[in-house]
Order: sequence, then structure tokens, then C-alpha cells
Amino acid sequence: MSSGADTTVAVTGANSAVGRALLARVAGQDALAAVAIVRRPEALEGLPSSPPIGTRIARYDEPERLTAALSGADCVVHLAGILIESRTSRYETANVDATRALVAAARAAAARHIVFVSSLGADPGSRNGYFRSKGEAERLLAESGLDATIIRTPLLLGPDTAGGRALLRTAERRSVRVLGGGVHTLRPLDVDDLCDAVLRCCAQPAAGVQTHELVGPERLRYRELLERTAGLLGHEIDVRSTPIRLAKLGAGLAGIVRAGGMTPAVIDVITSDEAVDRNADGDLGIRLTPLPDTLAKLCGTTPTT
Ligand SMILES: NC(=O)c1ccc[n+]([C@@H]2O[C@H](COP(=O)([O-])OP(=O)(O)OC[C@H]3O[C@@H](n4cnc5c(N)ncnc54)[C@H](OP(=O)(O)O)[C@@H]3O)[C@@H](O)[C@H]2O)c1
Repeated sequence: MSSGADTTVAVTGANSAVGRALLARVAGQDALAAVAIVRRPEALEGLPSSPPIGTRIARYDEPERLTAALSGADCVVHLAGILIESRTSRYETANVDATRALVAAARAAAARHIVFVSSLGADPGSRNGYFRSKGEAERLLAESGLDATIIRTPLLLGPDTAGGRALLRTAERRSVRVLGGGVHTLRPLDVDDLCDAVLRCCAQPAAGVQTHELVGPERLRYRELLERTAGLLGHEIDVRSTPIRLAKLGAGLAGIVRAGGMTPAVIDVITSDEAVDRNADGDLGIRLTPLPDTLAKLCGTTPTT
């Protein structure tokens, strides 16, 4: 891999919502080049293909291809991972095994630095399978001997993120029932702010293993986020409650049949309060987008700030 850029970034899960936002930021920058790594050829469709972005296809059970895909990269951004399980993609394979394979390939390719997008609440001792798998992935990185920056994130908002799409879809309705009445508190983060932070970590890699918690500028309840989004769409929304316990019971039964989807574990994740002791925006040197601007981007309206 050779380019005239100062920094070459290899991105796993490049077709993810965060991956696409990241590659869009790399496109057109002289100082940066990227290698977009996906598991299957169809996943390359729609990815930016301007000259500083190359592509590789590598699965996580193909160590040589994965190592070759990383070779020459100054920094590896690890985005492959899931919240919603399916029959073919489980927390253990997508979040843990893929990270183990990535670490081995990064060592073999002599990559210097890995940036990992993790989740608030990641904890290898958690009773929740998602949080546990993200915690185990963090531990693999911390014990890898490589320099690693872990960025724990909350709900990510952007036109392509699952959270952004779900918010818009729900806010478009006049009357909705949401889990627990939407009283859990969120710190939604603009996906573009996360991309800025990731690229800064790649350009100015810190030594050792650093863990940051990066959240958005405002703390608010989910129901308020819905009401504000509906307001931007020009209407009021009536927010009612679906009891969480009932939803988990239904999800547990459905999950047995579906082997994934909206399981009780996912319900616990999406109704968790998002709180941090210290927001990493200052440490990471980024300016957070005001929430009204993020919501305006999402709704396709004019920003108010
Ligand atoms: N979106 C959020 O609000 C949020 C919040 C906290 C943390 N994160 C983390 O940030 C990262 C990017 O999130 P995103 O929402 O942009 O992701 P996304 O759009 O859901 O994309 C998921 C990515 O993971 C890959 N993947 C799925 N199963 C896999 C497996 N078994 N092995 C290897 N790769 C697999 C997918 O590849 P295929 O298309 O080939 O399946 C895809 O590239 C993820 O690790 C996610 O957990 C996201």
C-alpha cells in the first residue's frame, strides 16, 4: 500500500454507517488515505471510491488476507461489530472473535496503532451479552501489546446510523408507544464528531492504551429527543409508554424463534441511561456539534445555530 498521503488508515467494517461517514471525510483530503476493508464484494457498493480510498475484501477467518489488507497502514480503525444479533452474526463472533483476528493481523502487519469504536457500558464482567462482548473486545486490545485508542460511544446520530434512522422513523408519526415512556437519558453524539475524533487519533496517535468516553453536548430524555425531532418535522407527537418488562417478555419469546433481533439484551442496551464522568471531547481536541444542528441534518432542515 503506497500513497502520497501523510497517514494511511485501514478501516474494518468500512461499509458500516460509521465507516461510510469516515470514508466520506477522508475522500478529498490530501493528507489522508484510507483502505476500506469489507467481508464481501457487495459491501463495496456505494462506498466512496475517490483516489485516496482503496478497497480490500477480507474475512476474519482469513488471517493472511486480513494481514495483507492491513499492511502499510499507519493506523487501523476497527468498526466491525454489532448490536443486533442474527442467526449468522452473534456477539461472540462479530464483536469478540473479529477483534481477536484483527489484533493478530495488526501484529503480523506491524500496524502501530488501533482505534476501536466501542460502547458506553462496555464491561467484560457485564451480565448483558452486548456490553460483555464489547468489554472483551476492549480487553483483547488492551492486552495486545499494540498502541490502542478505545472510544466508547453513546447513541450515534447521522442519516445512515441505525439510531438516526429509527429516531426519524418514529418521530414522523403523530402518536407512538416507546419503551418505558422514553424516560431514559441519552447523550446522542453526531457521527461526524466521532469521525473527527477517530481521524485525530489516527493523525496524532497516543502511546499505550487510552480509553475515552465521548458523548454529545446535551443530556436529555429519549421522549424529549423524539418531541424535538417531531417539532423539526413540523408536528407534535404524542409519546406513550410500552412497559419495558412486557417488551422484554415478548422479545425473549420472539428471540427464541428469530435467534436475534430485538432481544431483551438489546432492550436493556437501548434503554440504559447514557452517562459519563468526563466527556472526552476536550482530550480528543474536537468541537461537538450542537444537538439542534445534528437533528437539523437528520431531518434535512436548516440548522438553528
Ligand atoms: N451506531 C451506534 O449508535 C453505535 C453505538 C456504539 C457503538 N457502535 C459500534 O460502532 C461500530 C460501527 O457501528 P455502525 O452502527 O456504524 O455499524 P453497522 O452500520 O451496523 O455495520 C456493522 C458492521 O459490522 C460488520 N459485521 C457484522 N457482523 C460481523 C461479523 N460476524 N464479523 C465481522 N464483521 C461483522 C458488518 O459487515 P457486513 O455488512 O459484512 O455484515 C458491518 O460492516 C460497531 O462496532 C458498533 O457496535 C455503534
